[in-house]
Order: sequence, then C-alpha cells, then structure tokens
Amino acid sequence: MAEHFNASDIIETDKSSNWHHLTQHQQFDEADPLVIVSGEGMRVTDARGNEYLDATSGGVWTVNVGYGRASIADAVRDQLLAMCYFANSGGSIPGALFAERLLEKMPGMGRVYYSNSGSEANEKGYKMVRQLAHINGDGGKYKIIYRDRDYHGTTIAALSSSGQFERKNQYGPFVPGFSEFAHCCCYRCPFGKEYGSCNIECARDLETVILLEGADSVGAVVLEPITAGGGVIVPVPEYFPIIRQICNRYGVLLHIDEVVCGLGRTGTWFGYQHFDVQPDMVTMAKGLASGYAAISCTVTTEDIFQQFKAAPAERMHYFRDISTFGGCTAGPTAGLENIRIIEEENLLGNVVSMGEHLMERLLELQDKYAVIGDVRGLGLFAGLELVVDRQSKQSVDESYAMKIVAHCLSQGVMIGRTNRSFRELNNTLCLSPALIAGRRDIDDIVDAIDNALAANPL
Ligand SMILES: Cc1ncc(COP(=O)(O)O)c(C=O)c1O
Repeated sequence: MAEHFNASDIIETDKSSNWHHLTQHQQFDEADPLVIVSGEGMRVTDARGNEYLDATSGGVWTVNVGYGRASIADAVRDQLLAMCYFANSGGSIPGALFAERLLEKMPGMGRVYYSNSGSEANEKGYKMVRQLAHINGDGGKYKIIYRDRDYHGTTIAALSSSGQFERKNQYGPFVPGFSEFAHCCCYRCPFGKEYGSCNIECARDLETVILLEGADSVGAVVLEPITAGGGVIVPVPEYFPIIRQICNRYGVLLHIDEVVCGLGRTGTWFGYQHFDVQPDMVTMAKGLASGYAAISCTVTTEDIFQQFKAAPAERMHYFRDISTFGGCTAGPTAGLENIRIIEEENLLGNVVSMGEHLMERLLELQDKYAVIGDVRGLGLFAGLELVVDRQSKQSVDESYAMKIVAHCLSQGVMIGRTNRSFRELNNTLCLSPALIAGRRDIDDIVDAIDNALAANPL
C-alpha cells in the first residue's frame, strides 16, 4: 500500500477525514499532519519522504522490536489464512501457546485472559476484583486504590483509576470506588523528604488510604511499576516490598500495570521483576506484540483463577466477561514471534547495556545544561525533567518542552514528552527507543537533544 500513493493527496485525505488522537486540529489549518508511511528498524519515513530516527517506539512506547519485521508479518499472515478468528470462549493454537510462553516469563502467575487494549486489560482486572468481592463476601470489598501521576487508560473506569488531572478533566463524573494515594517521585517528594533519611512515606501512604476507606472495602491497588506518562518515575528499591506487605496485611490484591514496561523495555521481561515483589495481577498491551497486532492480557495468579473456578455452584460465579477481539489470532501469533525475536537477538541484554550508555550520556547532558533538573529511568526508558531553576525546581512551561521536541524533529529525531497529564508537570522529555537500539542510535538521540537545548537557551 505504501508504494502507491500521492503525498499531497494522502495528506489532504487525512486532514479531511481522520480525527487524530490527542490532537487539537486547529494546527492543521496552517500545517500538515505527520503521515508516516513506512518503517525499518529504528527509523520511519513520512509521506514527503523525510526520515526520522524514532526514540519513542511508535509515539507511545510500543514497537519494541522495531519496524519492518518480516517474520512477524509472515507468521500473522499464515495464521490468518489458517484461522483468523473465533470467540475466545473457544481456544486457538496461538492463544494457547502464547499464554504458555507468557507464563514461563512470569513465575508465580497462572492464567492469561485476552482482550485488545491496555485500558480494557485493566478494566478486566477491576471487574475480577469486584466479582471476587461477591464470590467471597457481600460484594463490599470492591474499591481500588490507584496512585497519583499513574495512568491506566482511556475508558471511563480506567480514567477513574488514573492520577493525571489533565487526562481526566472534563470527562467526569467518574466511577465510584476509586481512591488515590501519593506518587513516589523522589525529585518532588509529596512528603518533603529526602531518600536516605525518609521512611518511604510514599509507599506507606497506601496503608493510610486503605484505613481511611476501610480495609473491608478495599479489594486491590493498581500501580505502574515505573510511572510512564506521568513523568518516568522509578520507585526506590524498598518501595514495592512495602506495598506488598501492606496488601498482605489487609487482604488487598496487587495489580501491576505493565502496559508500558511489559516485554523488555527496562531490561527484564516485566518492570516489576526489578523489584522484590510478587503481584496478584499483571496487565500488558503495547509492547506485547510490538504493535504488529492489537493484543492485551490480564494475567492472574492461579489462586485468583481458582476462586472463580471453585466458587460454589452458583450459576453466576464465573467470570462473565467477553472481549470480541480477544479471540483474534493475530495478536498471540505476533506475540509469540515478538518473544522469539527478543530471545534470539538477546534484546534484554541489549536494553541493559544500551540503557547504561543512555543514562551515562543523559547525565553528561545534565552536567552541561542547568535546565535539566532530574534524569530518571531504567533500561531504554528515560525521562529528563526540565526546570527553570534547579534550586526552586520550578517547571519550565510546556511550550519550552514542545520547542525542544520540535527542534529534535527538525533534526530528524523523534522524542516524546509528558503532555496533557498535569499543567505544571508537562515538562519531562521522554525517551523509549526500540529494544534494538545501538550505541550510534543512542548517541544520535542524545546529540539531537544537546543541539536542541543549545539552540534554545531558557
Ligand atoms: C501504563 C498504561 N496503562 C494503560 C494504558 C492504556 O492502554 P491503551 O491505550 O492500549 O488502552 C496506557 C496507555 O498509554 C498506559 O501508559
């Protein structure tokens, strides 16, 4: 399809027909939308023939194994011709095999439930919690605690469980039964403490909120292992073990949202595997099939599954949920090939070594530019928080971060930034190159930011 098009025609057709995600369309009165027509490895090309080095893995940390993977396309094509779809109330060969492969990577987890977006995978988790409250009691232990600055998706319940004001604003009223606890960003500690002399108050705040809500009413806590769109926030090593202890104390399930970190982004299969923690539920989407097909999974422990299976012979006590496209075979087929590529090419190892190089280069950049207040990240997942002044930590205006992103784009390098999360915290540049990134790619990305900062002094 990419070979046979006229650039002006396709741009005009896009402008007149396509309602872009997260986009104020007034800008297209003056300018053209970016229409991407091809990709190979780390690079994409737009309709006008401009090539970009993509440090965002498809804009939203998705294309983990890079563009143009013929083996994934071939596997999906063959599977679609053999058997494209049947509702997942039945099984399929790739559905069974991919679930088994995933569970191999997740010791302690027992079952895989298929759907087709990160938001939906999270909603499935919330529904399981609510139904378990009925199976095991009077339905009262249904509340879900989420964390300030985390994001769990776009649907109304997923938004209700998200801690980002600008994502939620104007979309209320929200679903009852969701409450927020403190974020864990040391750079802007919500308790005014310093790591080293603090008592990890950010984790302990979960207990405060559980008690405030009433422990008998709280069913689960949902957390990103590393907050992504809320500013690339890596918790300290003590964080998750404390969260787990609190969950155990109050019979609260721990749901970890791996939609961004899932499959390799941080150098382990899942982000939580860096921390000493065993979750009860894990959700994943984006990098699960590197964007070659839509797929998401809600993975639970066998114990959760058995609570549904072994529920008294009450005819409503099984998980009465369906996702039509959870029966598409393209997703698990692409997922199987995605895992095979990550293993064959030792991409987890590459993420560790290239992630170290990326972090070294970013810290050098921080020495050079006072506007970089904080550098955070793990593996090929990094954030640079930009401030007017390091002492006061006053954020730069989001227009400044936009200028840096635009300057990088003009140099042929795509980087991301936090946006529409918080008015005053849309100041973090985000880097998430594909897991195949080489040293030269990392250097080109950092050099582009260096040039952009040099050309745009505050
Ligand atoms: C951590 C996290 N969870 C869930 C989602 C929602 O995923 P989707 O857009 O596939 O519904 C996102 C999307 O960015 C995310 O970053």
